[in-house]
Amino acid sequence: METFDFSYFDRGIDRVGTDCEKWDFLRLREGADVLPMWVADMDFPSPPAVSEALVRRAQHATYGYTEPIDADFTSVIDFWQRHHGLTLTKEEITLLPCVVTGLRMGVRTMTQPGDSVIIQPPVYGPFFASIRDNGRQIVENPLLHSGDRWEMEFDGLENCLRGGAKLLLLCNPHNPVGRAWDVDELTRVVELCARYGAKIVCDEIHADFVFTPKRHVPILSIPGAEHVAISLAAASKTFNVAGLKQAVMFAKDEAMRAAIVQEMTACGVVSGNQFALVGTRACYLHGDAWLAGLKEYLKASREIVYDFIRERLPHIGVSELEATYLMWLDCRSLGVSGEELRRRTIKGAGVALTDGEFFGTQGEGFLRLNIGCPHAQLREALARLEKALKKD
Ligand SMILES: Cc1ncc(COP(=O)(O)O)c(C=O)c1O
Repeated sequence: METFDFSYFDRGIDRVGTDCEKWDFLRLREGADVLPMWVADMDFPSPPAVSEALVRRAQHATYGYTEPIDADFTSVIDFWQRHHGLTLTKEEITLLPCVVTGLRMGVRTMTQPGDSVIIQPPVYGPFFASIRDNGRQIVENPLLHSGDRWEMEFDGLENCLRGGAKLLLLCNPHNPVGRAWDVDELTRVVELCARYGAKIVCDEIHADFVFTPKRHVPILSIPGAEHVAISLAAASKTFNVAGLKQAVMFAKDEAMRAAIVQEMTACGVVSGNQFALVGTRACYLHGDAWLAGLKEYLKASREIVYDFIRERLPHIGVSELEATYLMWLDCRSLGVSGEELRRRTIKGAGVALTDGEFFGTQGEGFLRLNIGCPHAQLREALARLEKALKKD
């Protein structure tokens, strides 16, 4: 039986020629020599039980209409109870094609056109688009940055709510700054939103990557949250199966859930691709040992980056990584534009990170480094980054 120790993750997997965005799309755009450390998936094979389940299903050569079965719900329920201590029932779970669909459905059902929706940038780019594309107003309550740590700005949040904002799109853990919000912070957010009659859509896609001693705090575990918040989650980041397109919404409030389900029906948003169901179920049922190994490996990856930056690029800031495999590098001391950072990294040094501006104007002068890859690849990327980001 395969064990998921460092040597397993060190082997990685060659993804070139699989139509993957991270490697193949970048090669088309920038050429074959650029090392991809950008889009948020990992250069590791998914748990063996997942590919075995998919192959078994594919070998049965009929692919007609499918319905989710009980195990599609119980496997999620048991996983979230086991890993995060959250108790859910089948009725509280709705299948979605992806988490971004859930953000958009939340905006459409919890606000009216023209309403204000709060986000806390720098934050994952589609948070902006989910609001803008639906004719709502973006209200920004930027995170505060002190040293290598990011915090929520509660006075600013209250001002936005006092100004009439109807919804907060919350990211927990927060991509790209790597914070796993704690109980006190989440309690304050829930209390504030409840006081002003606003709702919360909480994106918890990175929930399974919170590194000890921290733990993931599900929004729905906060007292009072069940009538204020819904949560979005997936196996996609955790087990490297984003291409299957499968996610879940947890909603304890029946009215909120019914409104979203009605909007999904009206828009023809359906879920349940049979490979997505089979693969996701296998992740939740059989992925624990693989995930435990992965988290140990990523903790070591994080240390490799901290050490490298301290020794070789001390003028670059790096946020404390409590969660996710995405590290947020502060390159503002170089005093160059985002365009120049892109040129220096991709053209000048052959390494592609995600532009800070993808996360809003607050991301200017920052780069996001994806460390979900074998250590040898990470070390090579860091050597190239040194060339790109060294001080003249
Ligand atoms: C915070 C966050 N939400 C959502 C997504 C995308 O999720 P999905 O592919 O399920 O829409 C990502 C991917 O990077 C993410 O970081």
